[in-house]
Amino acid sequence: MNTTSTPPTRGLFIVLEGIDGSGKTTMAKKLIENLSAMGYRASYTYEPTDSDIVTVVKTRYKAYRDPYIDALTFALDRLIHVKSKIKPLLDNGYVVISDRYFYSSVAYQTACGAPMEWVIEVNKWALRPDLAIYLDIDPDLALKRKGTSSSRFPEFENIELMRRVRTIYLELVKRGLLVMIDASRSIDAVYHDIEKLVLSKLTSKTTTSSSS
Ligand code: ADP
Ligand code: TYD
Repeated sequence: MNTTSTPPTRGLFIVLEGIDGSGKTTMAKKLIENLSAMGYRASYTYEPTDSDIVTVVKTRYKAYRDPYIDALTFALDRLIHVKSKIKPLLDNGYVVISDRYFYSSVAYQTACGAPMEWVIEVNKWALRPDLAIYLDIDPDLALKRKGTSSSRFPEFENIELMRRVRTIYLELVKRGLLVMIDASRSIDAVYHDIEKLVLSKLTSKTTTSSSS
């Protein structure tokens, strides 16, 4: 065994948040592509995952769904997502980009009627990301961009709910939990700002680990 080799440094955990149609998937995929071209190991993931937990609640327990049951379902799905996928990738030095994370639970399940502090509480043990970016956009424009493309959760795609969700995301920005980017601009302009934030995190991490 080579005892002189340094263990791989922990990767970077990045989250993209925003209402449906704000551009999360487009930006996440572009980031993966460009970070990979720069030589980083980068991996895309998303929530809710395709786990049995979410599927069973959506099918067998469909009649009982409410914001409390949804918050607990997504929180459980998340803890398993972290243990089974996110953490192992980070331990292997990957930059992990997650399309949605616990901020989605806070925004959507609170907008649907659950108390915000309780939703935060049930997600207390979910791994904190290194950077959580919120793509801010007017719901009318977001829906226009989405067009007729299908959603896995059409029940969350109505304009009134999206407006309430946006208000809660903005509250999380105010609390310093999310960094906001104006997502109503062109793909290139939005991407430019996201990449700048991510690269500055990556650089400060490299500096910290090489100086410690
Ligand atoms: P989300 O993952 O947040 O639901 P998507 O990335 O799927 O959003 O984007 C929804 C649609 O809007 C896609 O057709 C995508 O090509 C387009 N889109 C994404 N970002 C922009 C942008 N900044 N300007 C114009 N169209 C965009
Ligand atoms: P999806 O089709 O993946 O939409 P998008 O491309 O915008 O991510 O659907 C995910 C939906 O689930 C979305 O409307 C937000 C909702 N959601 C919650 O309500 N709570 C959560 O914790 C998460 C992760 C998602």
